[in-house]
Amino acid sequence: MMKPSVAEVLHRGRMLWIILLSTIALGWTTPIPLIEDSEEIDEPCFDPCYCEVKESLFHIHCDSKGFTNISQITEFWSRPFKLYLQRNSMRKLYTNSFLHLNNAVSINLGNNALQDIQMGAFNGLKILKRLYLHENKLDVFRNDTFLGLESLEYLQADYNVIKRIESGAFRNLSKLRVLILNDNLIPMLPTNLFKAVSLTHLDLRGNRLKVLFYRGMLDHIGRSLMELQLEENPWNCTCDIVQLKSWLERIPYTALVGDITCETPFHFHGKDLREIRKTELCPLLSDSEVEASLGIPHLSSSKENAWPTKPSSMLSSVHFTASSVEYKSSNKQPKPTKQPRTPRPPSTSQALYPGPNQPPVAPYQTRPPIPIICPTGCTCNLHINDLGLTVNCKERGFNNISELLPRPLNAKKLYLSSNLIQKIYRSDFWNFSSLDLLHLGNNRISYVQDGAFINLPNLKSLFLNGNDIERLTPGMFRGLQSLHYLYFEFNVIREIQPAAFSLMPNLKLLFLNNNLLRTLPTDAFAGTSLARLNLRKNYFLYLPVAGVLEHLNAIVQIDLNENPWDCTCDLVPFKQWIETISSVSVVGEVLCGSPENLTHRDVRSVELEALCPELLRAA
Ligand SMILES: *[C@@H]1O[C@H](CO)[C@@H](O)[C@H](O)[C@H]1NC(C)=O
Ligand SMILES: *[C@@H]1O[C@H](CO)[C@@H](O)[C@H](O)[C@H]1NC(C)=O
Ligand SMILES: *[C@@H]1O[C@H](CO)[C@@H](O)[C@H](O)[C@H]1NC(C)=O
Ligand SMILES: *[C@@H]1O[C@H](CO)[C@@H](O)[C@H](O)[C@H]1NC(C)=O
Ligand SMILES: *[C@@H]1O[C@H](CO)[C@@H](O)[C@H](O)[C@H]1NC(C)=O
Ligand SMILES: *[C@@H]1O[C@H](CO)[C@@H](O)[C@H](O)[C@H]1NC(C)=O
Ligand SMILES: *[C@@H]1O[C@H](CO)[C@@H](O)[C@H](O)[C@H]1NC(C)=O
Repeated sequence: MMKPSVAEVLHRGRMLWIILLSTIALGWTTPIPLIEDSEEIDEPCFDPCYCEVKESLFHIHCDSKGFTNISQITEFWSRPFKLYLQRNSMRKLYTNSFLHLNNAVSINLGNNALQDIQMGAFNGLKILKRLYLHENKLDVFRNDTFLGLESLEYLQADYNVIKRIESGAFRNLSKLRVLILNDNLIPMLPTNLFKAVSLTHLDLRGNRLKVLFYRGMLDHIGRSLMELQLEENPWNCTCDIVQLKSWLERIPYTALVGDITCETPFHFHGKDLREIRKTELCPLLSDSEVEASLGIPHLSSSKENAWPTKPSSMLSSVHFTASSVEYKSSNKQPKPTKQPRTPRPPSTSQALYPGPNQPPVAPYQTRPPIPIICPTGCTCNLHINDLGLTVNCKERGFNNISELLPRPLNAKKLYLSSNLIQKIYRSDFWNFSSLDLLHLGNNRISYVQDGAFINLPNLKSLFLNGNDIERLTPGMFRGLQSLHYLYFEFNVIREIQPAAFSLMPNLKLLFLNNNLLRTLPTDAFAGTSLARLNLRKNYFLYLPVAGVLEHLNAIVQIDLNENPWDCTCDLVPFKQWIETISSVSVVGEVLCGSPENLTHRDVRSVELEALCPELLRAA
């Protein structure tokens, strides 16, 4: 399972919109089904595909048909069409492959084995609006990759292995609005990448970004942005990141930006960038000096960068952020909940992606369409795309989740970090079934009742970092069938029971760093599809391959640093395993902690004979 694409979210938003309107109108909650008439087909189909006309567009379904080359699709269609080619076996897109498919408005190449897009592959696709390349093996976007796609509005390429994007890759995609690049390996974005585009949605979650600069990057994104997702990158919270922080403080308060959690330096690990003062990030400079040196224009003097949507009460804090009091008032409580929303400038209001022949999704409201129910002591934000609510109850001294009253409707994200919660009960989340993110980090949780999260079937991210949890059991995770991201760093975990994670088939990321683990049980990772695993700073002497590491067949990144690896014969299978997975997958060093004559040597650089002289003697 992937993260929902923006399109899916928008689509769901649309459904929900209908549900809510019907709820309001009829006092009744059954969704009204969207009825789609099947119209008459006046074009040939193409064997073995299946075709239909929907919403006046021709749809050609060629999913899972074993195609290996676009040239195998020999038909020509004279009316606009959508072509579905998911789950085929294409490895390469050749120059001019699509010339005869020039009436395509949408092409889905998700879940193939694409490694290479030749220059000019998309030539001729002049009316193509949507291109899906997700779940392939693409590793680079070159300047010439997307030539010819002059109408492209939507590009989705999540779950590839993109490591490099050339600065001109999008220079001719002047209509591009939605760019989905989450779960790749992008270490940096080149200057001026977005110079020619006006993105409204940009998803960069789960990459390797450490910093984003203002000039040539954020200044370009900021023009039209509605939603930016930056979670799960290894943000390096030092002087350079002040630019990103300053920028975040001045983008419209309705723009949605995910959490930016610092990975480095160590003393900021796990902290939200927005909660660290600039003078802490960059101690040598005062705030105004930092800003001046970065060349970020002053809002008052730069009309293009002034955001008309921001209430003036918030703008006032932008220039002087030195005092923590002001900082709090501008950031901890981002906005009064029921404040009317101001319409956006026209350039962004077309942003809610208008699919062909689809009515606009929830239009911008001058006030929320439904009353917002928000628990006392928290602040709530309505997510205009899907009418979900973000409920922010950070640092409010809550002892118990049962104190959260009244219960909000359609809460999507619940932030309960930095409270005083000690125990989690099954009844705590009865009324939160629409949650996709639950943040319980930095509490005092030592007890999690079996089945505590059983009523959260849609939960994708669960943060339990910074608590007092000692043991992980399978029962804790019952019902979390959608969970992708699980954070347990900085607890006191000593024990993981067998098959603890196996009830979470979609688990992609697991952070267990900074705990007290010495071993992992057999089948620890069986039944998951982990791509990222952090085991840093525990007490592992060795890890078995059979029954444990061998189940990590989808691993993209693993952190094994700061464990006292015992470089003796037992470690041989482990050494061989880390050598077989790609070198980019292993983060940093894997140093021996013993025996004495091998300490501080990287396990990979220790010769087999030194690791296990017995092997040699036996031979
Ligand atoms: C795929 O089709 C192209 C023409 O578009 C051709 O040049 C190429 O050789 C074909 N490749 C394979 C592997 O069949
Ligand atoms: C890509 O295009 C950009 C801008 O158009 C140019 O500066 C850069 O050198 C190009 N890169 C390559 C590898 O051709
Ligand atoms: C980019 O678009 C411009 C104008 O539409 C066109 O003149 C130019 O040839 C295009 N460049 C490439 C490399 O396609
Ligand atoms: C973070 O930034 C600092 C200062 O630029 C640099 O010295 C350090 O190496 C960076 N850390 C990482 C992990 O990139
Ligand atoms: C939290 O709630 C539980 C059950 O509702 C109750 O037994 C407990 O005393 C409460 N704890 C605190 C600290 O309020
Ligand atoms: C939560 O939901 C249950 C049933 O689903 C209902 O009985 C209860 O009143 C709700 N509690 C709150 C606090 O809304
Ligand atoms: C390390 O020390 C052990 C004895 O403790 C010895 O058998 C081994 O040969 C030494 N290895 C190296 C590489 O010096």
